[in-house]
Amino acid sequence: MKIGVIGIGEMGGTLARRWCEKGHTVRVANSRGPSAVTPFADAIGAEAADVYGAVGGSDVVLLAMAFPVAATLPRDLFSQARDDLVIVDTSNYYPDMHDARISEIDDGMPESVWTSRQLGRPIFKAFNSIMFYALSELGKPEGSSNRLAIPVAAIILGKIRRYEPRNRHGI
Ligand SMILES: NC(=O)c1ccc[n+]([C@@H]2O[C@H](COP(=O)([O-])OP(=O)(O)OC[C@H]3O[C@@H](n4cnc5c(N)ncnc54)[C@H](OP(=O)(O)O)[C@@H]3O)[C@@H](O)[C@H]2O)c1
Repeated sequence: MKIGVIGIGEMGGTLARRWCEKGHTVRVANSRGPSAVTPFADAIGAEAADVYGAVGGSDVVLLAMAFPVAATLPRDLFSQARDDLVIVDTSNYYPDMHDARISEIDDGMPESVWTSRQLGRPIFKAFNSIMFYALSELGKPEGSSNRLAIPVAAIILGKIRRYEPRNRHGI
């Protein structure tokens, strides 16, 4: 699978590394252009890109940045992307901690709806309820007992489907 990863900090960097290990074709980007991500890309076997390069031709794009950053991405970032591109967003809104307040969300708009409106595309909200180290350290092979699971929320074919977490810890 061709996967673009935008944001290569704790979440994006961890998932990019894991997906490279699994044999996917991964392109990674941050806000500072391909040269800034080349050392990391070389270290994990990914390709360095800018944000457009991470989107173009990808089957899946992972957004792994602070929540408000979606509003600052180029407006045309997804205009040439395939119609069935899956955009996965890891972000969580942390008002008064490290994110400025966003009035629409404070007034009740779901975070994923706000992000979708910034991008002009629907998103899958996933990986936002698990810490990055669990993704790199706590995975178990298929068939093992007590494997981790994550909730995924998305609007698919116009219908809202809810994926219930297995227990109150969301795993
Ligand atoms: N860390 C976790 O365990 C965890 C768990 C669940 C959910 N989350 C959520 O996942 C999101 C990412 O968290 P994180 O801990 O991975 O953050 P992080 O370590 O701070 O990494 C953020 C990444 O986003 C990049 N970035 C910032 N602005 C950008 C832009 N305009 N265009 C492209 N890239 C940009 C940064 O690179 P540059 O600034 O150099 O461009 C950096 O690579 C957050 O919303 C967080 O709440 C995190």
